[in-house]
Amino acid sequence: MSASAPPIGIAMGSDSDLPVMDEAAEVLDEFDVDYEMRVLSAHRTPGVMTQYAEQAHERGVQVIIAGAGGAAHLPGMIAASTPLPVIGVPVQTSTMSGVDSLLSIVQMPGGVPVGSVAINAADNAALLALQILGTSDSDLRTKMLDYKAELTEKVSAMDERVRAHGDHD
Ligand code: RP5
Repeated sequence: MSASAPPIGIAMGSDSDLPVMDEAAEVLDEFDVDYEMRVLSAHRTPGVMTQYAEQAHERGVQVIIAGAGGAAHLPGMIAASTPLPVIGVPVQTSTMSGVDSLLSIVQMPGGVPVGSVAINAADNAALLALQILGTSDSDLRTKMLDYKAELTEKVSAMDERVRAHGDHD
């Protein structure tokens, strides 16, 4: 199988997860890193999900970001069938505010890890995926250093504004 796939796979359990998972795509666009997006349901299309997980590394995917809500088994079930790192995004639910999704994603059995970001934090999932790729890509590492320098500048500007606001000598 040819390794022509983009380095990052973004999977989600339903298209209702797309507004959240799009935030990961936006970050990857900012860093100019390619990705593919799929709806793969652990419960509704288990066969398709397993085939994706089993073949992703052979196609050239290097990190998988998987978002799901409720009984959020997608990240864990993908992790069960791939040697690639899997980052889970617990999608917020209306019934339990996403705590159900979070616990479903983080409570993995020994031997099958899934990294998890905070509820709805697909942007952080993308940054973490980029940092994983950056361990073997110096250009990407440089972009991440630039991004961190921008964060520092933003917080310095906040600090200046708040100090001026509180300066009542
Ligand atoms: C999960 O069930 C999906 O990840 C989604 O977050 C949730 C609800 O799915 P829909 O009923 O909106 O398709 O599998």
